[in-house]
Amino acid sequence: AELVIVEDERAAGELVAGSIVSLIRRKPDAVLGLATGSTPLATYRALAGRIAEGSIDVRGVRGFALDEYVGLPAGHPESYRSVITREVVEPLGLTPELVRVPNGDPEQIQHAGADYEAAIVAAGGIDIQILGIGRTGHIGFNEPGSSLASLTRVKTLTAPTRADNARFFDSPDDVPMHCITQGIGTILRARHLVLLAFGEAKAEAIAAAVEGPVTASQPGSAVQLHPHTTVIVDEAAAARLE
Ligand code: F6R
Repeated sequence: AELVIVEDERAAGELVAGSIVSLIRRKPDAVLGLATGSTPLATYRALAGRIAEGSIDVRGVRGFALDEYVGLPAGHPESYRSVITREVVEPLGLTPELVRVPNGDPEQIQHAGADYEAAIVAAGGIDIQILGIGRTGHIGFNEPGSSLASLTRVKTLTAPTRADNARFFDSPDDVPMHCITQGIGTILRARHLVLLAFGEAKAEAIAAAVEGPVTASQPGSAVQLHPHTTVIVDEAAAARLE
């Protein structure tokens, strides 16, 4: 993987936004792989700034979110559908129907994974996949032990991940137990992976992802299997690298 150490999140955001802008110029119906959480926010902000300058047409841009909680009521402000609408679709001015999020409705969960995979294939695959990483080493919500060949499916969130995400909910008990997430195999099919991490809490997961053995115990290490991965971190997240 190519490793880039940047000054701060803002610099990382500008860098990634620059790659996405050139991608969209080259391919106006580019397919973006969208992470949620705090990590990609600087990228989305920078991208919104570039788009607001007015020289790129994003009406044909398509998107696929990495994951979604299972069982949140439709329209819950912390569902990833709501987050993607608020943080990505609206500020960037994307066409809402072209941006998909896995379906976390328990009534439809049996076929939601296969439907999502089929939609990604029908779109011609993801051109650039933005990834954050969890303290547990997860990418998407593929917690340790996830098969490196896995496709979109339901997973159980681990206790540390639920605790980390409790900040978005009124009470830690409100964090759903289950999610539907692109698999590691799904992520590896994207044409370019961009893994972002900031802050010392991510240093260990980044060291394991970039320099550790490739293992299902550290799902982030799967990025080493991909021929085109860019890892962008600040000094604090790079602190455990050799
Ligand atoms: C989000 C996702 C997760 C996050 C990770 C880091 O769609 O799939 O893997 O990227 O939990 O979260 P933050 O960025 O909030 O530290």
